[in-house]
Amino acid sequence: MDSVKNDVVSYPAYLAGQWQMSSSHETIAIQSPWQHKVLGNVQAVTQPEVDQSIQAAKKAQHKWAALSLGERGQYLNQWARELEKDKAEIATTIMDEVGKNYADAEKEVTRTIDLIRYTVQEALHMHGESVRGDGFPGGSKEKLGIIERVPLGVVLAISPFNYPVNLSASKIAPALMAGNGVIFKPATQGAISGIKMIQALDRTGLPKGILSLITGHGSQIGDYLTEHPGINMISFTGSTQTGKHLSQKSIMIPLVLELGGKDPAIVCQDADLDLTAKNIIGGAFAYSGQRCTAVKRVLVDDRVADQLVAKLKQAIETLSVGSPADNSTVVPLIDDKSADFVQGLIDDALDKGATLVTGNRRKENLMAPTLLDNVTQNMDIAWVEPFGPVLPIIRVHSVDEAVKIANKSNFGLQASVFTQDIDKALEIAGAVEVGTVQVNGRPQRGPDNFPFLGVKASGMGTQGVHNSILSMSREKLTVINLK
Ligand code: G3H
Repeated sequence: MDSVKNDVVSYPAYLAGQWQMSSSHETIAIQSPWQHKVLGNVQAVTQPEVDQSIQAAKKAQHKWAALSLGERGQYLNQWARELEKDKAEIATTIMDEVGKNYADAEKEVTRTIDLIRYTVQEALHMHGESVRGDGFPGGSKEKLGIIERVPLGVVLAISPFNYPVNLSASKIAPALMAGNGVIFKPATQGAISGIKMIQALDRTGLPKGILSLITGHGSQIGDYLTEHPGINMISFTGSTQTGKHLSQKSIMIPLVLELGGKDPAIVCQDADLDLTAKNIIGGAFAYSGQRCTAVKRVLVDDRVADQLVAKLKQAIETLSVGSPADNSTVVPLIDDKSADFVQGLIDDALDKGATLVTGNRRKENLMAPTLLDNVTQNMDIAWVEPFGPVLPIIRVHSVDEAVKIANKSNFGLQASVFTQDIDKALEIAGAVEVGTVQVNGRPQRGPDNFPFLGVKASGMGTQGVHNSILSMSREKLTVINLK
């Protein structure tokens, strides 16, 4: 299947149920962000190959949707078993390809297996509704509406580099269970992990054509896929910039977008500061802050700010920094450009008078975890998402001020509130404009049975297993006119 030249593997795309090299004869090299070597090449798929894949998905979809939920679920449960067998290999690929530490990469595969199994169960337990017409003025009891959920057709699933397996399966599994065909476009950096998970799916005997995996240059196939009349729904996780572009390009189809964030940790005067510091550190620096739900700013009551900063400093200085193979918490960023961007934000803040508490050291794309105190609103780091290991502290004088600054952001993914007063927590939770508020905990997407959503520039639509199945299907009403 794969071809090897000069010790570098060329991975095929999975087009209409066949593993194939592209007719473009062009490949894209995937560079490891920390081994600094080429891990393999993936195909630069052409537009006609996109057409063939979408046509194949359309053709296969009707038969697929005609299977019972239990039959579709059997393929997915078998996929989960295949992933179990490949867990170590896929975790190693994630680690090599996107620089996630091995323990977290393995957790990502386990979470994915659990998610697939849960998705099957959830779909098996979802059901339609019925309604009688007499609930509306002038309506009649003789009209019986049967509301079922039916698939949308072909779903385009576009996943990001930071969870190349989990955030792919969290689109593919609900799309398939809802009876759709799938065109899967992994992030280029993350494509080898995506290919390995689809090799596992292919081994289940999945009907040919129902899913294709397309790799390629965004400039050649990005808009082409998004605007393609054969695509009936898009589920995208990635940057706000790309999400906005997608929403301009896609034409009259449902979109679910999970985009960036600038999640604040609001720390009140009465917060348990040990618990707060622990959550902020985990939230901000796991996988070097390359998570949409990372803590990206701390809005702390001035009266406890010195104490909190001291605790954060101490904890940050004990974080392991280095190789993902050594299970370091802070690992090299995905590429040099990303590290340059984070460095630019740190430099801007320091130029404008922020206090460097710790960090601001760098070796290529490996950046030391950095804590900046006395950050003010004229600094870019107060508003811009770094996607890197830097945490700004903004001191505030009141809860109102914290909420005001929290809401001034363009983003609205999650927020954390640290206080021992549940009334205050609920008041703040009600006032912050975000998808989720975590009380005394760090922002996070999971557990995956929870709804997951962002507002403002953080996204559109809701994910989480149940909501993903809903967003990848639609209601269909059949009215029986009795008598
Ligand atoms: O990067 C975006 C992910 O959805 C975050 O997921 O909160 O489980 O790390 P997580």
